[in-house]
Amino acid sequence: MSVSIKSAREIELMRAAGKILAKVHETLGKELKAGMSTWEVDKTGDEIIRSFGCIPSFKNYNGYPASVCVSVNDEVVHGIPTKKRIIRPGDIVSLDIGVIYKGYHSDAARTHGIEEVSPEAALLMERTRQSFFEGIQYAKEGRHLHDISNAIATYAESFGYGVVRDLVGHGIGTRLHEDPQIPNYRQRSRGIRLRAGMTLAIEPMINAGRYDVEWLNDNWTVMTEDGSLSAHYENTVLITSGEPEILTLTADER
Ligand code: MF3
Ligand code: CO
Repeated sequence: MSVSIKSAREIELMRAAGKILAKVHETLGKELKAGMSTWEVDKTGDEIIRSFGCIPSFKNYNGYPASVCVSVNDEVVHGIPTKKRIIRPGDIVSLDIGVIYKGYHSDAARTHGIEEVSPEAALLMERTRQSFFEGIQYAKEGRHLHDISNAIATYAESFGYGVVRDLVGHGIGTRLHEDPQIPNYRQRSRGIRLRAGMTLAIEPMINAGRYDVEWLNDNWTVMTEDGSLSAHYENTVLITSGEPEILTLTADER
């Protein structure tokens, strides 16, 4: 395993890619409404990404057919947009987006509630988001990678939630997926030592029920096995000697 350390110049490009992706999420998040098909969400997202001079990194990645992963309710991640799937009030919709700017990737996901969602759904979304922030308390030079994993898992499991195990976060840079893999569930080992200049996509995927997931026949869409709701929250993060720099925070989060 080799984890890349970004130079000052590369960090600037990662910051720029992250800033644009935050803007994409802000813009698409505002457009997202009941009555839209998930295909329309992807099409709108694709246009927004390109309007900022970026390339959507997911499009055609290992054959994935869209620019935005749109995952509704019990879909965990990698939902494939279709004209038939109409977003309805009360749904929770995860939008996972990756962009490439001047050769550098950023990757971020948000789960949105459509109009009024159940209290259960609202709590799941909020706690999934918070699990990320619990994790990144340890995202600094000198700490170990699995300190992040364990903090996410401890927090999420305290509510009885299932932390997805079949998918993990990842290093990111000139490629979408770089070393290391970043599990969100509890680890026995400490994992690698974190160093300033590492850039990581940390992405808890949390189920209201059990952690087990299954793949649909489309070979992409990941669903909760028990039919429970699932939420996803992801940012691209720069490790420094002090506080981590979250490169993909939206304006309302800063
Ligand atoms: N955030 C996801 C990941 O890191 C999205 C990838 S979707 C794919 O794996 F289509 F690009 F595979
Ligand atoms: Co990712």
